[in-house]
Amino acid sequence: MTFRTLQGANLSGKTALVRVDFNVPMDDAGQITDDTRLKAALPTIDLLSKAGAKVVLLAHFDRPKGKRVPEMSLKPVVAPLAALVGKDIAFGDDCIGEAAQATIKALKPGGVALLENLRFHAGEEKNDAAFAAELAKLGDIYVNDAFSAAHRAHASTEGVAKLLPAYPGLSMERELSALDAALGNPQRPVMGIVGGSKVSTKLDLLKNLVTKLDKLAIGGGMANTFLYAQGHDVGASYCEKDLAETAREIIRLAGQNNCKLFLPLDIVVAEQMASGVPTRVRNLGNVDDHERILDAGPETVARLKRAMGNSKTLIWNGPLGVFEIPPFQRGTMEAAWHAAQLCRDGKLTAVAGGGDTVSALNMAGVSVDFTFISTAGGAFLEWMEGKPLPGVDALKI
Ligand code: 3PG
Repeated sequence: MTFRTLQGANLSGKTALVRVDFNVPMDDAGQITDDTRLKAALPTIDLLSKAGAKVVLLAHFDRPKGKRVPEMSLKPVVAPLAALVGKDIAFGDDCIGEAAQATIKALKPGGVALLENLRFHAGEEKNDAAFAAELAKLGDIYVNDAFSAAHRAHASTEGVAKLLPAYPGLSMERELSALDAALGNPQRPVMGIVGGSKVSTKLDLLKNLVTKLDKLAIGGGMANTFLYAQGHDVGASYCEKDLAETAREIIRLAGQNNCKLFLPLDIVVAEQMASGVPTRVRNLGNVDDHERILDAGPETVARLKRAMGNSKTLIWNGPLGVFEIPPFQRGTMEAAWHAAQLCRDGKLTAVAGGGDTVSALNMAGVSVDFTFISTAGGAFLEWMEGKPLPGVDALKI
């Protein structure tokens, strides 16, 4: 893939339209509860601003479906963003037309403005050509720093990129190079860990990964479906029995592609999924009717750790057990600590992503040790599924 780069570009006096993802969690009082996505935009804002460009931030918030919904305004983002950037941020009450133009005109070189929610216009999600042209009118160059919205073919992620010289922002560049190191062009052997509860939401992902990885460990609730498909009793565990044949197909595909599959060897069971309940370690096929599988067993985790130790690259999506409820966090935590240690020792490149995975790695206290943790939700999954990301493809030259 070839992209333009902002470093070394002639930016002085230009107006840069910068697509960011400010779809941040907000409480009822309009307070941002996690500003990770605001912080992710800072390096690009800083670079453009210092280079003397006017920085015009384009973003969506929530899903207003083409209408102006006051509760979905981006205005509450202005003050926290200004505090992080360390300078005033102008706010344009609309993302196109006179309000946007006047806001941009009033900016000094190096100044920063945020425009109102793109999704207040139906043309945004429809990738409408006229709406994209209205956006393009506002600037000289386009920068996309929103990997987490790149799976959407919208006017601000795709349409406008074709109308102006288009650049990836610094966070986007960092994300793309980390993802390439994990799956595009990894150091081998490359191992995956896929967990979480449902096989049904990760079918495409599993089918793609078995063609790319040398080893794949399946954990969490979805492993129950694989165990059931192999004829093991899963008691009262969550299990998508109707997907047994699909699970067998994935096992076959892994074999055909020389991807070694790691399914649980032993499991942790309990009668209830509740904090502090008594647990037992069971061998496969030894689960009582009323028991539920809620975590990976010690032998399974030990084998996973050995497999990580023999790998150069790890890609991880989804926990190995119900990590939110102690004592079912153990398998996920031990695997996370081991991966982190291998990263610290310089022996492993570890990339992880997905909402639950980010929370689990934060809980394990290893987020700083992993090579890269993607906070993108849908975009990260679609990339793991091997699907094209329109917002990334539109930046290619
Ligand atoms: C996200 O939060 O994952 C992105 O901002 C995309 O949001 P969307 O799912 O509403 O398109």
